[in-house]
Amino acid sequence: MRRSVKNIIVLAGAGISTSAGIPDFRSPETGLYANLKRFDLPVPEAIFDIGFFREKPEPFYVLCKDLYPGKHLPTPTHYFFRLLQEKGKLLRIFTQNIDTLERIAGIPSDKIVEAHGSFATSHCISCHAEMGEEEMRHAVETGGGKPVRCERCGGLVKPDIVFFGEGLPERFFDLAVQDLPKCDLLIVVGTSLKVHPFASLVERVPRTCPRLLINREAVGEATGWGDRGFSFKEGSRDQFFQGDADAGAKELARGLGWQDELNNMVETQQRELRIKWGLEESSLEPSAQTAVKPEDKIDKLAKELEQAGL
Ligand code: APR
Repeated sequence: MRRSVKNIIVLAGAGISTSAGIPDFRSPETGLYANLKRFDLPVPEAIFDIGFFREKPEPFYVLCKDLYPGKHLPTPTHYFFRLLQEKGKLLRIFTQNIDTLERIAGIPSDKIVEAHGSFATSHCISCHAEMGEEEMRHAVETGGGKPVRCERCGGLVKPDIVFFGEGLPERFFDLAVQDLPKCDLLIVVGTSLKVHPFASLVERVPRTCPRLLINREAVGEATGWGDRGFSFKEGSRDQFFQGDADAGAKELARGLGWQDELNNMVETQQRELRIKWGLEESSLEPSAQTAVKPEDKIDKLAKELEQAGL
């Protein structure tokens, strides 16, 4: 990374949170969608579809309990983004993730665009009354998968996550237009780039802007002439680090001479969060977090959905 780089844009997806124990969506074995098939959802994505939610909200509320922030620690990747910010190199992080781990890692909210919303706020989908974060968390955690209802009108209360069939926040479009032309290094990490309009951001940086993909497999490649997807041919501006997000982040930190800073930040921040959230003593080792495998969470979720009669 050239020392002069100072307007880095990060495009992030669920792959940056899997080492926190949060399943991604489309990984064949451990992805959420591969494991929701066993429930009578018309398609796995239905659990995040606004039309299906109105008809049958219970599966979402069971999932919601499992994904609610406050149980998962940011990963080395999230803390690497924070270092980019603290070193004055991060223009913006556009994330598709709803887990708020970027905020929990200490990245200032003005530097984050939560393109698909997040759990941070919740509203009634009928009268739009807001429900406080703690009240919603309590209702979800104690409700056993029962829908959370608005006190004012009895409508369904949903975290402000963007469902299929809903529009993305204005902030996404405004900052995409404002930021992308200024980008001098694009880092795309942990995403299948399957969902638009988010995926199109890859094509909207200057043609001379270097692009780095950090992902378990190649995604977003150009499919034909004129397509501005990735091209990993020799001499291209695009580079591909095939592997885990955390390994890629650590490799970048090592190359920049920041590895000690990153390791210390991960260690101290995760320890502080474990104490703050009262996570069990036994998991005080930084690596213990990765002991929670996404597939374990899926099995737990499966049992909860079955207990909720779904
Ligand atoms: N390191 C690197 N890559 C990883 C890791 C990891 N630890 N774990 C998973 N991946 C890769 C997967 O191989 C996959 O290519 O990250 C990608 C995750 O893709 P998806 O599961 O499709 O997640 P994402 O791209 O964020 O999904 C986009 O789809 O359902 C909607 O709204 C939802 O925001 C979500 C959107």
